[in-house]
Parts: sequence; C-alpha cells; structure tokens
Amino acid sequence: MAEVLSQLQEEHRNAARLLKVLEHQLALFDSASQPDYEILTAIAEYFTTFPDRCHHPKEDLIYRKLKERNPSAAEAVGDLEAEHERIAELAQRFRDTVKSVMYETEMPRSAFDAVLRQFIAEQRQHMEMEAERFFGRAIAHLSEADWAEIDAQVSDEQDPLFGAATAAEFEKLRNDILRWEEEDEAAASG
Ligand SMILES: [Fe+2]
Ligand SMILES: [Fe+2]
Repeated sequence: MAEVLSQLQEEHRNAARLLKVLEHQLALFDSASQPDYEILTAIAEYFTTFPDRCHHPKEDLIYRKLKERNPSAAEAVGDLEAEHERIAELAQRFRDTVKSVMYETEMPRSAFDAVLRQFIAEQRQHMEMEAERFFGRAIAHLSEADWAEIDAQVSDEQDPLFGAATAAEFEKLRNDILRWEEEDEAAASG
C-alpha cells in the first residue's frame, strides 16, 4: 500500500481514539460533573491544527488525482474539499465553545452539548465515508506512479500528539489516552 494511504488510515484510527475521549468528557459534562477542560482544550487544539495542515491536504491531493484519472469515481465520493472546509469550521466552533465556557461566558449546557455532539458525529461520518467510498476508489484508479508522485508531495510534518515525539502541549493528553485505553482493556478482559 502507498505510504500516504497507511498514514491516512493511522490518522483516522488516532482521530477515532480522540473522539472516544471527547465523548467520555461529554458524558461527564452531561451528568453534571466537571469535564477536564485541559483535556478538552488539547483535543480542540489538535483538531484545529494538525488535520488541516497534514491530513486533509494529503486527501485533497489524492482526490484531485482521482478526478483527473476517473471523474465519475471522484463524483461518487462527493465534494471532498468542501467537506474538509466544513469539518474545519466545526472544529473551530468546537474550540471557540470550549474557550467560552472556560472563560465563563454564559452558555446553556444544551448549547455546549450540541456543538460537541455535532462535531463528533460529523467527524465520524466523514471518516466512515472516506473508508467506504474514497480510499477504495483511489486504490482502484491511481497508478503506482500517481502514488509515488503524491508520496513525494506530502509534508513530512510529524503528528504532534501521536507521533514519535509528543509536543509539550499534548503530553498530558497523550498520557491520559494511554492510561484510559489500558484501563478500558483491563475492564474488558477482567
Ligand atoms: Fe477527509
Ligand atoms: Fe480523512
């Protein structure tokens, strides 16, 4: 498989892990406990930076190549670039909402809940769509040379949260994720 495709799939797996953490924080909030705002801020920070710099651009390159090679296959995927803009806006709104609540702007609980829920749902839907409709079509219609060309164009910026070296601002989040996953696994097997 092309290097870029395995990177994209790994990024999807990692995003899915984060969405689970986010859902857990939202459940705390809904049960009237305090969510961990530091975690929420770090998740919002991640989703408003790394995917726009490194994940969506790789997919956009593949999508544009697919359009060239087989326009009807690209059409079946839909307007991927527009979806990325939409996801970026939702991520921005998620970040702004977390910030407002932290700075104690009056906001009904239901409004906070709705923004986070919508972000989680649409982000998941988008990744599922790509797994079901986009990656397979790209594999079917792009040549080895196309993949090599794309691999050469993608940025080699490392994932600041899940990559080999975690950025300081994400260290707590990464440790928490690993701890929760361990606890989850222990709970499932015990
Ligand atoms: Fe995407
Ligand atoms: Fe994606």
